[in-house]
Amino acid sequence: MTRHMKMDNADTRRRLDDMVQGAVGAPLDRPDGPLKVTGAAHYAAEQPTDALCYGVLVRAPAAKGRLLNMSTNAVMALPGVLAIVSDERMLRNPAQGTANEAPVQGVHEIAYFGQPVALVVAETFEQARHAAQALQLHIETTDEAALDPLAVEPEIPEDKQSSMGDLDAAMKNAVYRVDETYTTPSHSSAPMEPHASIAQWEGEQLTLRGSYQMLKYNRNELADSLGIEPKNVRILAPYVGGGFGSKLGIAPEAVAAALAAKKLSRPVSVAMTRPHVFETTMRRSETRQRVRLAADAQGRLTGIGHETLVSNLPGERFAEPVTQATAFMYRGENRIIGQKIARLNRTCAGSVRAPGEAVGVTIVENAMDELAEQAGIDPVELRKRNIPEEDPTRQVPFSSHKLAEALDAGARGFGWEKRNAIPKQVRDGEWMIGMGMASAFRVNMLKEAQARVRLNANGTAEIESDQTDIGTGTYAILTQIACDMLGLAPENVTVRLGDTDLPPGSGSGGSFGAASNGTAVFLACEELRLQLATAAGCAEPDLTLKDGKAIVGNRQVIIAELLPSTALEATGHIEPGDASSKVRQATYGAYFAEVAVSAITGETRVRRMTGAFAAGRILNAKTARSQCLGGMVWGIGMALTEALEFDPRYGQIANHDFAEYHIPVNADVPQIDVILLEEHDDWANPLQAKGLGELGICGAGAAITNAIYNATGVRVRDYPATLDKILPGLET
Ligand code: MOS
Repeated sequence: MTRHMKMDNADTRRRLDDMVQGAVGAPLDRPDGPLKVTGAAHYAAEQPTDALCYGVLVRAPAAKGRLLNMSTNAVMALPGVLAIVSDERMLRNPAQGTANEAPVQGVHEIAYFGQPVALVVAETFEQARHAAQALQLHIETTDEAALDPLAVEPEIPEDKQSSMGDLDAAMKNAVYRVDETYTTPSHSSAPMEPHASIAQWEGEQLTLRGSYQMLKYNRNELADSLGIEPKNVRILAPYVGGGFGSKLGIAPEAVAAALAAKKLSRPVSVAMTRPHVFETTMRRSETRQRVRLAADAQGRLTGIGHETLVSNLPGERFAEPVTQATAFMYRGENRIIGQKIARLNRTCAGSVRAPGEAVGVTIVENAMDELAEQAGIDPVELRKRNIPEEDPTRQVPFSSHKLAEALDAGARGFGWEKRNAIPKQVRDGEWMIGMGMASAFRVNMLKEAQARVRLNANGTAEIESDQTDIGTGTYAILTQIACDMLGLAPENVTVRLGDTDLPPGSGSGGSFGAASNGTAVFLACEELRLQLATAAGCAEPDLTLKDGKAIVGNRQVIIAELLPSTALEATGHIEPGDASSKVRQATYGAYFAEVAVSAITGETRVRRMTGAFAAGRILNAKTARSQCLGGMVWGIGMALTEALEFDPRYGQIANHDFAEYHIPVNADVPQIDVILLEEHDDWANPLQAKGLGELGICGAGAAITNAIYNATGVRVRDYPATLDKILPGLET
């Protein structure tokens, strides 16, 4: 039986509130946790496989050119070498999880430094690595690579420009105005587990053990790249060590492994090195953002301009959606929102950790701080004055809107009232102390998802979906939803994920995994409840399920006794509908940060942070807190250390490893408090839960740079706020 639902309207039933098991919302430990910490959970490259051989990618040492030939014969003669694969199909997959698009590059046209051009396969990894290093490439470089985003004539896509009213007039008539240009650098997704694939063929059937986020799409992409039917591809990814966008689409190692395995009739393992991950998987585009804010005497916005420049490879469709939230963040009837794209010979740009809002909201929130100071209005109050009644550009209602509550709860929890609004007033020895804040905004999405739930005769249940858990807590929250709906203890529910033979889930991306797949499990369980109620002789709403028992009126029976001798099984299927066009759905929050800036070195240390978030029903208090906390750690990285540095001569990423690309380590991360607000968004889905995987980064960096300003009087408009940008401003 399949229970299908299309999300066209609000679902006001709030069925989870009727359940009495008490699993949803509790801080359940991850069921997969012990497997991971004991090494029993095998990641892609760790699968024990017979007769395995190893492939190492060979990458272009130039940002632009044409590969004429390579020293194949000499390298084939090296010890252990089995094959050299160089095939256009290695790069046929497009960047963003949509199959059937034309390839952007092949292996012969070099479009960026580090682009894979071949795979060398040998008996051992060491032999393959040696041979890959020995392979000589003959590359013809003709015209010059485009490496500087400001030196090329950008594309101005028509569908990415919009305006309302007359912003120039609003700026002219404004009592307070901000008109500043800010820049953010390119970022690396930086998942802990490098991309890896083991490919194995049985006849026409390919099995790929990989590390990917969106298996049903990844299967289509891989099939499309190879020119075979999706039904002949099975992808397994039960455990994934982070993706952060870089595993939304398949990467060249997957196709290369499949091609080599076919050629050799042996399983082939290809694992990327850390520099491979930096150079050959998606990066976040650098951005240049001009922000204009026009406000009246009370600080109410009358106009907002947000014009951005991003980059990508020639021909790529993706453009960092920097202004995604600008349309609905704040009031203001006069608007210009626009985007230009510079075509550069840099590693392909794609989704990284909250594409759009992570950099877009962060910059607007810096500009709001500049406006607050100019108008002499407290930054929290300024934001509250600018909360719109409805979506100001689409003129539809908000499904729910808890920004004001988040601002208040965060300010209270942090102790914002202790802040001195005048910069440079607080000192602690050599350290200049400051406080800053920012709002958080992130669009909320629902994606099509299916899940199968089986209730066994012994009173246990199994959940099955090709959905992934990329470290986010999917195993935990799906368990909890089934526990509540079916009245089972967590130890009696098993979740099987990450196998394309199972019903297709939404995949993990855009913070939509929990809500979409959670709804699929909910729907399957609703169907099972109906069947149990029928067996118990009551209406489904009158059925109470708890601790393996069914309670109907004053009767109590063991659930297993209601079951037929075999298992009961149902599939839940959710599809997005018109709900998203009838209302504006988003998640909101507020960040508060205290920083200390050394008056001697200009170095910033974050001393403490508080974030308050509203993301609908919280499914698991522990994993939700971890998600928000992780997002704020990304914010610390964005504000202070993270930047891909491209060598201006060759286009190479100079800092392509964790020694030189600085994501925050424990010593950089202070006490972080997370406040989760109670909210139920009936428009989101039947769980009333919204995404929060990415909400924690959507403005967090601004709280830190605003705090740096409060500490030092130095406004850093070029992220990250490294000491060289702060120190000159400290000399008085
Ligand atoms: Mo996310 S950057 O959509 O994985």
